[in-house]
Amino acid sequence: MEFEQAVKNRRSIRRFLDRDVPDELLTSLIDCALMAPSSMNGQPWNFIVIRDNETKARLAAVKNRYCPEDKKDYSADFIMEAPLLILTCVNRKLAFDRGIENGVLATAHLLLAAANSGLTTVYMSAHTPGMPEVAAEIRSILEIPQDFDPITLVPVGYPAEPPAAKTLKHVEEVLFHEAFGRKERLIQKQHRSSLQAGSKRCLQVS
Ligand SMILES: Cc1cc2nc3c(=O)[nH]c(=O)nc-3n(C[C@H](O)[C@H](O)[C@H](O)COP(=O)(O)O)c2cc1C
Repeated sequence: MEFEQAVKNRRSIRRFLDRDVPDELLTSLIDCALMAPSSMNGQPWNFIVIRDNETKARLAAVKNRYCPEDKKDYSADFIMEAPLLILTCVNRKLAFDRGIENGVLATAHLLLAAANSGLTTVYMSAHTPGMPEVAAEIRSILEIPQDFDPITLVPVGYPAEPPAAKTLKHVEEVLFHEAFGRKERLIQKQHRSSLQAGSKRCLQVS
């Protein structure tokens, strides 16, 4: 599959076929996750694959228990239907104070690799700012050592339905040039030589 198509195919679908994910495929997803950038190249990740139904139920219960009031309609029960969950955790020391970024980037690779193989995933956090109980309970259930932080929890499986329609923003809405709010591209071309000379006179302005 072309890269762009895989990116565009990635959607969160919360119903899964009763079909397992082969081990080789799972290994290739983790291999793609390992290609993510990491602070100081610390590669601080570990990934826990959860197939046990009781463990899935305990994790769903934690997510539901600490779900904020305004999100109560979004139960985590669906994760029990996924053939497997992947918990990404990071070693705090190897993450150089950038645990969340390191964990999220590896997870993003994983989501795209899964989409490329026809799998669906749902990004879910395994920690909540201001609620250390969430990470603590997940750490306890999965026996994660104290010097590791759980970052994301991703159900993985084959989709049992097509994705819901999703409205996307247009590029023109979100893209600025040079400073926030500037929609016009004023600078057409900037020569490296002029930058090195520290001169602004050579800039070509339309
Ligand atoms: C930080 C973050 C937290 C999320 N948490 C949840 C969650 O707790 N439960 C859930 O079902 N989906 C969760 N999602 C998935 C989003 O709902 C989903 O990505 C979004 O609706 C866009 O849909 P798409 O992934 O199909 O493009 C989360 C996504 C992000 C980025």
